[in-house]
Amino acid sequence: MDFEKLKKATGLSALYYHVPRHANTIWYSLGGLTLFCFIMAMGSGILMSQFYSPSPSTAYASVKYISSTPGLQLLRGFHFWSANLGFLMLIIHMLRVIITGAFRPPRTITYFVGLGLLMVIFMIYFTGTVLRWDQEGYEAITHFMAVNKLLGPIGAIFQEDFTLSTSMLSRVFALHTSALQIIFIAILVSHIFYIKYFGISPKPYQTEEEYQVSLDGKTTFMGHAKLLGMLSAGMFIIIFGLAAFFPPGLFHAAKPGIEVTKPAWPFWLLVPFENLIGIAGILFGSVIVGAYLLVFPVLGLVIRGEKTLFRTVYAIVSVGLIVWFALMIITYISPVQSHFGSH
Ligand code: HEM
Repeated sequence: MDFEKLKKATGLSALYYHVPRHANTIWYSLGGLTLFCFIMAMGSGILMSQFYSPSPSTAYASVKYISSTPGLQLLRGFHFWSANLGFLMLIIHMLRVIITGAFRPPRTITYFVGLGLLMVIFMIYFTGTVLRWDQEGYEAITHFMAVNKLLGPIGAIFQEDFTLSTSMLSRVFALHTSALQIIFIAILVSHIFYIKYFGISPKPYQTEEEYQVSLDGKTTFMGHAKLLGMLSAGMFIIIFGLAAFFPPGLFHAAKPGIEVTKPAWPFWLLVPFENLIGIAGILFGSVIVGAYLLVFPVLGLVIRGEKTLFRTVYAIVSVGLIVWFALMIITYISPVQSHFGSH
């Protein structure tokens, strides 16, 4: 078999384009690993949708059934862990992007598209927690509706009385399994388009000549894809192991009118804001996180000197990480508070 001819005939030869040498490291494979985890979550989610019942009267029982049936329990664990590890990889991918200055022009647009992906992933994760329809899921949707109420007419669509024809749970199910997934794929396509269009960014302090030399080396995208393939295989084993040995839990069936759970970990940084000023704190905290992430591309546009830029970025990242860990710890140790006054 002539592999060169086969590569040409299948178009695979197009994947042998050169990438900088540093692109072939784990740090520059984190976006790909994030994608791998989310593809795993999509696949297992599609399978699980054959066993889940998106109606308020049957949802919890169907999740209980899934959790107590051996093969299905593994499937649910796989979905849970691939989503959580995907989120973790996403955070580390963002960190890599920020500390290597990859948000600088011309990749500012890639960064903004990435922020769009982050928002959609938050929504997909959130709607997923609601679907369990246990106490935590129920409290999550209650908070979501309360936040949307603060948004006036814009938030009216996410209220129970928006329609009498179906339940809030069925609508969340539709969002989780179709609308948000389609939006995710559409934004992802443009993220990947821009990554390919601009090429992988140079390392911090790398001169144009050094970058060109590393581009002319032996590293091709196919080589990077092979590394990503090996890392993904390792990730698959980790997800599988976690699913087998640490199956996700389930609270008791939803009891309206009580508040006894904390949200899932990606939302922990918002809890202290909520405890401080009530439901509006969730909105306030989200705006602060968004503004924080917008600072980097703005700095990339306004600061000229590379040294000044990286010093400023490292200072802001360090403060951000310290504040984030502090908020996580506060949420972990503080008791659950009620935010709906009347209960
Ligand atoms: C589901 C979410 C995401 C996926 C699947 C994803 C995927 C990827 C992939 C595969 C790359 C190629 C290089 C690498 O792996 O490091 C990349 C690069 C990049 N991503 Fe993401 N990404 C996501 C979210 C984000 C977010 C939230 C941001 C920032 C706010 C972001 C900003 C960037 C930038 C600026 C690059 C170019 C990096 C460079 O040229 O060095 N991405 N992304």
